[in-house]
Amino acid sequence: MTKITGILGHPVAHSKSPELHNGWYQKQNLDFDYQSFDVPSTKLAQFFSELPNNLRGLSITVPHKENVRQFLSTESEAVQTIGACNTIIRNLETGSLHGENTDWQGWLAAIKQQSSINLSTATILVIGAGGAAKAILYALKQADASSVSITNRTFAKAVQLAKQFQFKAQSLSEINNQFELIINCTSLGLKADDPSPVPQELITQQTTISDLIYTPTKLEQICQEQGATYINGYHMLLEQAKLQHKLFTS
Ligand code: ATR
Repeated sequence: MTKITGILGHPVAHSKSPELHNGWYQKQNLDFDYQSFDVPSTKLAQFFSELPNNLRGLSITVPHKENVRQFLSTESEAVQTIGACNTIIRNLETGSLHGENTDWQGWLAAIKQQSSINLSTATILVIGAGGAAKAILYALKQADASSVSITNRTFAKAVQLAKQFQFKAQSLSEINNQFELIINCTSLGLKADDPSPVPQELITQQTTISDLIYTPTKLEQICQEQGATYINGYHMLLEQAKLQHKLFTS
């Protein structure tokens, strides 16, 4: 029987995941089908009570990465530390659900592929303190990063994350040094007219910017003007999807 996988979120219409996963299934001649499950939060419990027998795995996106945890039998240490699950693997024999997080590994793979930055020694600024920032901070911890500052519009959240991951919180106004790597983990850039989350004076020819957003943004435009290296969020999306593909089909 065809094994079903898919993306669970709300909305999911614009996701690139079905094209990626179904493309791999076709290429590798696998009897799998990747579908879209557009489920609002109010219908999440019902969705999990009616999972099809041949469902092998799910990619989880906004707004369910935290909420799905209540339906899992087991979860990885990364899911527990990050507090978010972006991948569910279902045991086809027992029906039990295991939660994983491939976002942090996908980001690490993308940064290694797209830059020559040594994460353990580089000066790094993380902007944002939501779920996406947590996955990146977890990745930086795994990579033994030693010089990481966190900043955020709501500064108290940056302080809290700095404490959890043993990094430093810095308000944008007190920053007077340059960083080799700046990571945009805010949602700024999702809308076409959003301003850049990174002050222009922090972007020079020596700066590498890793953006988690993958549509064209003001930040990308400034990086081009300043001659900075800009790594688009699509690389992370692609790398985390490759990891999911391995988990679903192994
Ligand atoms: P995600 O799960 O994608 O990380 P999130 O948890 O809602 O989403 O976090 C969004 C991040 O973008 C937060 O750091 C948020 O800052 P606040 O903690 O102050 O809300 C940041 N963000 C969103 N809109 C912003 C804006 N207009 N200016 C600066 N930061 C913004």
